[in-house]
Amino acid sequence: MPAGGFVVGDGQKAYPGKLTPFVLFTCVVAAMGGLIFGYDIGISGGVTSMPSFLRRFFPSVYRKQKADATTNQYCQYDSPTLTLFTSSLYLAALISSLVASTVTRKFGRRLSMLFGGILFCAGALINGFAKHVWMLIVGRILLGFGIGFANQSVPLYLSEMAPYKYRGALNIGFQLSITIGILVAEVLNYFFAKIKGGWGWRLSLGGAVVPALIITLGSLILPDTPNSMIERGQHEEAKTKLRRIRGVDDVSQEFDDLVAASKESQSIEHPWTNLLRRKYRPHLTMAIMIPFFQQLTGINVIMFYAPVLFNTIGFTTDASLMSAVVTGSVNVAATLVSIYGVDKWGRRFLFLEGGTQMLICQAVVAACIGAKFGVDGTPGELPKWYAIVVVTFICIYVAGFAWSWGPLGWLVPSEIFPLEIRSAAQSITVSVNMIFTFIIAQIFLTMLCHLKFGLFLVFAFFVVMMSIFVYIFLPETKGIPIEEMGQVWRSHWYWSRFVEDGEYGNGLEMGKSSNQGTKHV
Ligand code: BGC
Repeated sequence: MPAGGFVVGDGQKAYPGKLTPFVLFTCVVAAMGGLIFGYDIGISGGVTSMPSFLRRFFPSVYRKQKADATTNQYCQYDSPTLTLFTSSLYLAALISSLVASTVTRKFGRRLSMLFGGILFCAGALINGFAKHVWMLIVGRILLGFGIGFANQSVPLYLSEMAPYKYRGALNIGFQLSITIGILVAEVLNYFFAKIKGGWGWRLSLGGAVVPALIITLGSLILPDTPNSMIERGQHEEAKTKLRRIRGVDDVSQEFDDLVAASKESQSIEHPWTNLLRRKYRPHLTMAIMIPFFQQLTGINVIMFYAPVLFNTIGFTTDASLMSAVVTGSVNVAATLVSIYGVDKWGRRFLFLEGGTQMLICQAVVAACIGAKFGVDGTPGELPKWYAIVVVTFICIYVAGFAWSWGPLGWLVPSEIFPLEIRSAAQSITVSVNMIFTFIIAQIFLTMLCHLKFGLFLVFAFFVVMMSIFVYIFLPETKGIPIEEMGQVWRSHWYWSRFVEDGEYGNGLEMGKSSNQGTKHV
């Protein structure tokens, strides 16, 4: 038997412990960190389709929109300042996630969450009271700083707190709250847009203060994870906490493994350069490719611009906001499917199924929009059945994303990094995610204007690439304790050449070679 932990039938370790009410509670509170991210994703598209908001801050877009509907509809929202409003947030998040890496490692996961909440409160207030475009942008930048901190710390927190058998489900709590945040924002936009006097957008933007307060207060009551406490030398407290979290007295196996992982981690002086070492090649590859592909699904075209997109394809403002509410609800419901299935069916199955589903829908939506709008972007009268078909396929596409790349894009990175590179690698994941969210937010409206319906085919191409990537390179990580993840690389046909026996990460798994889990594709 390898050092520490029991070995179950398939040669993998099993630590004692159950899903205690305490761990459930802490995970629910921490997952709320996703609300601020979600609220923000959902709010900007709706606000930018409100005429009173456009008239005040983006008059040129407003004038284009008012122009005759026989003009080219693909280009009505093509304005650099308007996209800067949406996308500035993601650049800020990218920068702050790098800072958050150090805070998370040196001072614990919950301090990063607290910072995130406070910055977010400030941003929401500035936006709610904005009088000029620059106030809007400054507010968005503060929100972005908040998101960088929250997205860096929350997924790690959840993956470390959760008993490994439920890690997938509990971690997806983060994605669930992202989707709830998006939906709440869309519903609020729908109602606030109707406020007489046209100041509803202030409530939409300022409303972000509510999720911000939730995570700020939440982080004050949450305990830090045992992993993080050990990393900071608080061994006794960590052991007591681990007992409480796992609901059993004998946690020595898991505790010893965490301590060993932490020792290995302490010996690393430069987590960033360390990441470049050959044995971390699989981790670095995943830290970059998973968020890159997640964004190249094109999901945020729908999330940011659903109302604008629906408006473009001929819906009234009201119907557009309503359709966004429909896609938002599908997003939440499908995430629940993922919570149910991720620890049963595994990550690879969901990735591949979701990819296929998205691909089919993208092809259909491209065909529908192409058939009606042609290349000159003048649709004429749009029949009702047409709108229903487009919205239905967009919903099926969103469902495919919501049970695959959405949650797994955050879950898989947070569970594969060994402790010694965990904070730094997670920052890379957040940064890459934010860079590509930024790029897509920034160029989508211009791309729609130039590529027209072909835009959906560009994303379809990437969905094919990412599914092939998962099939060939991503090992299954379901049901493997987080500090034991080394075995999945060692037994992988490709990655095993980078990660040699005994050399990997926390050094817990010596003598394990005869005991490895199943071979992975
Ligand atoms: C992604 C976001 C996306 C959201 C949609 C998240 O996992 O990171 O970019 O907007 O899912 O639900």
